[in-house]
Amino acid sequence: MLRVGVMVSGGGTNLQAILDAIDAGKIRNASVEVVISNNPGAYGLERAKKHGIDAICISPKEFADREQFNEALVAKVDEYQLDLVVLAGFLVKIPQQMIDKYEHRIINIHPSLIPSFCGVGYYGLKVHEAALARGVKITGATVHYVDGGMDTGPILLQKAVEVKEGDTPTILQRRVMEEAEWVILPQAIDRIANP
Ligand code: GAR
Repeated sequence: MLRVGVMVSGGGTNLQAILDAIDAGKIRNASVEVVISNNPGAYGLERAKKHGIDAICISPKEFADREQFNEALVAKVDEYQLDLVVLAGFLVKIPQQMIDKYEHRIINIHPSLIPSFCGVGYYGLKVHEAALARGVKITGATVHYVDGGMDTGPILLQKAVEVKEGDTPTILQRRVMEEAEWVILPQAIDRIANP
């Protein structure tokens, strides 16, 4: 059984897609052991609690400096003896010591077709604003392994999504989630759990 930890900063709809896929048997041989957030108000934490999963907040504001926050984060991940860490809308830079320790064991979902609209400053709605501003006709989502860079790790899965006439960033964000993110993130976990 693959022991999975999910890290969230916000709504946690990708977390929900993972939990639903496990319940539906679409992700086999994996269990979510813990959900960790940097944000005490993250609805993802509530989703975890409703599912009977440990929900833990580690806020940078509780620590004297970044180094102490990073150490606490890594210590918590270590404590749960995780085989896979899933960044599902986690908007904090992963400490280098964790990337080194968990090489090929951290994956991230990004709401564009990397290498478009990714890297520093591209997260959440900003990604879709940029895609619409550029006028692309196709966008999508990417699941990739996390390395020392920003959205630079090896790509696991991608899925394309059509941009439609009259899309707003919010409408496009929702379509990318429904048609791509909530599909490929569970698929990637199932693939890792069942090589
Ligand atoms: C998702 O669209 C995810 O791809 C994005 O944040 C959103 C979180 O939504 N992540 C990034 O932009 C990472 N660079 P959720 O909390 O409802 O899953």
